[in-house]
Amino acid sequence: MREKIPAVVEHRQAFRLLGAEIRFIRKYADGTWVLLLNTGEALAGRFGLTRDVMVMYSPTHELQPAILGSAKKRRDELPRTFSCEDHFILVASSDPHAAAKLHAWAQSEPTLGIHLPHRSTPDAIARTLIAEMQRKLASRNLYDETLPVTGADFFGRRTELTNLQEELRQGKVCGVFGLRKTGKTSLVKELGQRFVSGNDKRIFVLRDLESLPQQSGRLRVELVQELRQGLLEGFRAKQVRRGDLNDLGLEASVGDLKRALAISLNDCQKRGIQVVLALDEIESLVGDAETLRHDARPEVPEALGALRSLVQEHSNFNVVISGITSAIIHRGQLFGVENPLFNWARSYYLEPLSRIEVDGLTTDVGRRMGVQWSSDALDTMYEICLGDVFLHRTLAATVVDTLSQDTFPMLVSSDNVEAVKKRWRRGVAERLAQMFGSFERHYPTEASLLRLAAAGDASLESLEAEYPIEMGRLIDLALVAEAPAGDLSFGSLCQVLHQARVL
Ligand SMILES: Nc1ncnc2c1ncn2[C@@H]1O[C@H](COP(=O)(O)OP(=O)(O)OP(=O)(O)O)[C@@H](O)[C@H]1O
Ligand SMILES: [Mg+2]
Repeated sequence: MREKIPAVVEHRQAFRLLGAEIRFIRKYADGTWVLLLNTGEALAGRFGLTRDVMVMYSPTHELQPAILGSAKKRRDELPRTFSCEDHFILVASSDPHAAAKLHAWAQSEPTLGIHLPHRSTPDAIARTLIAEMQRKLASRNLYDETLPVTGADFFGRRTELTNLQEELRQGKVCGVFGLRKTGKTSLVKELGQRFVSGNDKRIFVLRDLESLPQQSGRLRVELVQELRQGLLEGFRAKQVRRGDLNDLGLEASVGDLKRALAISLNDCQKRGIQVVLALDEIESLVGDAETLRHDARPEVPEALGALRSLVQEHSNFNVVISGITSAIIHRGQLFGVENPLFNWARSYYLEPLSRIEVDGLTTDVGRRMGVQWSSDALDTMYEICLGDVFLHRTLAATVVDTLSQDTFPMLVSSDNVEAVKKRWRRGVAERLAQMFGSFERHYPTEASLLRLAAAGDASLESLEAEYPIEMGRLIDLALVAEAPAGDLSFGSLCQVLHQARVL
């Protein structure tokens, strides 16, 4: 490598000055070199690193954004005994504009690239690198994340993951339900990654049903094609027999899909391959309470029936469903016919994170940006958000936005949290109203019970006596909290909704 990339000599000395060691080198056909850096205690402590850091050497004189795009693939290709941080990489390049380019790409590319300078003394390289890491890692607000999270970005939910994995193993269909932004997609994605990790005889197919059309008629065609497409991709990767599935045209019925899928699943069974199909945003299939009452969607129970019998006939096939509404499992009837999943699938409702889990999220994410929370600050965070992941992340993001970046690490006190509380509540009020709106469309009776209680027109206890099923669902969704002695109170989200005058 020294011959091709002479700069590595100074880099290695600079890394040594920082207490870091190169411990893996690989060259790719396109001329890129990848190193892994064991960062040593000092750097790890300073920047909250728990794994190695990837360094990429670009062979071209004109650095392209593709180098950042390829980071994930390079990470996935590492030998199993190595793992590295996935929120940034170091990039070395002879392009004189490398630093400016990496800076410009920080917003658009999935991985942050931090420039590793060269043509300088090891001492100067070490100093510039530390300054650059401090500036770049602290300038991103990592709490402000709206996409589903997995891997090192996924916190808590250990019990749910263990239980779901066990259910999958036993061949039971499960549902994961929760309000908007409670982490349903993240949980299902993480479940999928763990399910396939280290086992090449497993296929996990996750499909988001959000884009399905709402009018019946189109729904059957699109649903069949959506499932066909997702499963084909999963089967292709493992060279499973899929000719019949491939040939399904636009006119294919649910029955045709079932027959074609059975052929592929039989092939999987013979080869010992397990298949899990996860359907996210399931409300797109069943609609809201109004749709359920008035619309005709015969293809929905038909498709669920087909999935149910495929699961029953193939011990290597299972289905996971996720979304806001558990109607797909708890209603005895769907669109005028018997619901095939009624009382058959197991429902999980996403609860708030525990104190330990949410503290882990707050402190770990903070450490990656050089932010340190005092224990009082964590207490205040928990008093306000009570483990609701959306509330915690948005409040933490607001706090971090107000910190001065001059000190490192940046320290957060309870006062910092209190100071932004009102501003944060105003900032999220609109999104909270939307969250409650979507809940209300799916659970109108439950929502009106909350409104009655919030207005002081009835106590939660008296409502529980009159509407036990609906109150049970409010407790499942953590909108109402039940103390061990049986006392009922508003859950964290409800309290914030109430304070923000949404409820
Ligand atoms: N286990 C977790 N650890 C850390 N952050 C999480 C976790 N679960 C959810 N989040 C945070 O919440 C956000 C929303 O998560 P996710 O998209 O999984 O929720 P959802 O319930 O599927 O939302 P939607 O209702 O929009 O589909 C994520 O962007 C992430 O910031
Ligand atoms: Mg989702």
